[in-house]
Amino acid sequence: MSIIKTLEWTDAGVRFIDQTKLPTEEVYVTCTSYQEVANAIKTMVVRGAPALGVTAGMGVALGVRESKAQTIDELTPEFEEICRVLAATRPTAVNLFWGIRRMQEKFARLRGMPVAEIKQELIAEAQRMHLEDIAANEAMGRHGAVLLPASGGVLTHCNAGALATAGYGTALGVIRAAVDSGKNLHVFADETRPFLQGSRLTAWELMKDNIPTTLISDNMAGSMMRQGKINAVVVGADRIAANGDVANKVGTYTVAVLAKEHGIPFYVAAPTSTVDLATPDGTGIPIEERASNEVTHLAGKQIAPDGVHVENPAFDVTPHQYVTAIITERGVARAPYGESLKSIVNQKTDGVLR
Ligand code: MRU
Repeated sequence: MSIIKTLEWTDAGVRFIDQTKLPTEEVYVTCTSYQEVANAIKTMVVRGAPALGVTAGMGVALGVRESKAQTIDELTPEFEEICRVLAATRPTAVNLFWGIRRMQEKFARLRGMPVAEIKQELIAEAQRMHLEDIAANEAMGRHGAVLLPASGGVLTHCNAGALATAGYGTALGVIRAAVDSGKNLHVFADETRPFLQGSRLTAWELMKDNIPTTLISDNMAGSMMRQGKINAVVVGADRIAANGDVANKVGTYTVAVLAKEHGIPFYVAAPTSTVDLATPDGTGIPIEERASNEVTHLAGKQIAPDGVHVENPAFDVTPHQYVTAIITERGVARAPYGESLKSIVNQKTDGVLR
């Protein structure tokens, strides 16, 4: 398996593979301030819900490390501002807010320590989040691999791979684990208009690992299913409401409806940090609206008339009735999700995975 370093903590700052440059250029950028980290999130240098959670943690740690504050009283308002700026980057992936909250809780527990120690502890916490995310993905892979067929086609939408996480991936982690266990799978990657995470990122990532991959445009999924080429669907999630409604990249809902019509299982792979028990159902999930030029332009070239009205919601919500199972690092949740998700999220762990 190739090691893709989506993001990492370095002495110089937080280093990201620049996902806006893939697949043609493998370029890395180092953010040396929390404002630069916030900008990297907004401009999609880093994206994908679990990656955003870890990025938020590292952004907070970086902001605190760079602070000139001498006392906790000077540091506290700065800490709050760092969290506010990072929280204002993207609204849908709940992992971002989970990552910030985890740093806030850690900060609260560190009150009373010298500022230099607080800095070290926050850096260590962000690094722990990074390692835990990879471990969670590997666990999800183990739980999910058994659900996939011994052979056949698996459709995925957007990029829920190593690039969307600290490493290994959620949906692609399940596929990786299934392939490693000897399953003979062929992945169909939706290109994922308008930002093309499927063609630019998923295809790149799977090809690096020599996993058989066919790229299709989003509107081909239905006929591929009808032809019997697709035996399962696995996608990631940006936020899962308490009742199991799933927000993920726009177009996921269409895939879920098609899967149900064709009797194909539709799996969602996501860590428990993506489950938002405070949001009762999908209607309460904020959906990010992105710039219209993502739709009117393709690789900088205009493909729509000047002034055309555009809608560009980055995510949609798949009602829980379409979801066959939700694969988490703590096990597989099935309907009724109101009960299964609550018990998985509140499950006592060994203290490593939160
Ligand atoms: O806009 P993006 O690229 O951040 O959207 C990402 C997705 O929709 C992913 O499917 C989701 O975050 C799950 S990633 C493991």
